Amino acid sequence: MALPPGYTFRPLEASDRANGYLDTLAVLTTVGEVSEAKFGEIFAVWSASDVYRPHVITDASGKVVATGMLLVEAKVIHEGGKVGHIEDISVAKSQQGKKLGLAMITGLTQLASEAGCYKVILDCSPHNVGFYEKCGYKNEGVEMAIRL
Ligand code: ACO
Repeated sequence: MALPPGYTFRPLEASDRANGYLDTLAVLTTVGEVSEAKFGEIFAVWSASDVYRPHVITDASGKVVATGMLLVEAKVIHEGGKVGHIEDISVAKSQQGKKLGLAMITGLTQLASEAGCYKVILDCSPHNVGFYEKCGYKNEGVEMAIRL
């Protein structure tokens, strides 16, 4: 995975809340108020399970500039196979176009492969299909949703 000099792909840390994680996620969608305590609770849920594998890319100053989540789902089908799910990909506006999105997807896909996943899937808007195709993904279906 090629990153600009000084940039790092690594697992999310509890201290990243105040290190650009929430600001970077806000490029994707509404984050709202997530207090330090609330973030700590969520981080604890993620850390207690090997399903959740949140990752970030930091810039040369150590600030979070890209986010991404890999979930590893244990299935019964395909002889107890595993499927990776990618969620919450976001790159800070000022950092877009530097191949950080590509590096995030490449890194998470590699982790899914190492975890034994036979495929990785994700949902995206039509305007991001071209980006994921550049990352080697193919459009294989339609996302369905119900708002609750
Ligand atoms: N459509 C088509 N091609 C694109 C798009 C796009 N929307 N965005 C980037 N590309 C291309 C680039 O031009 C580049 O192509 P090249 O190799 O020919 O030069 C290639 O894809 C890689 O681009 P990156 O520089 O890695 O893209 P970037 O770091 O800017 O990240 C991202 C792309 C993640 C879509 C970013 O623009 C972003 O954060 N957008 C807002 C949040 C968002 O929509 N996230 C995705 C949600 S879907 C999900 O989370 C599963």
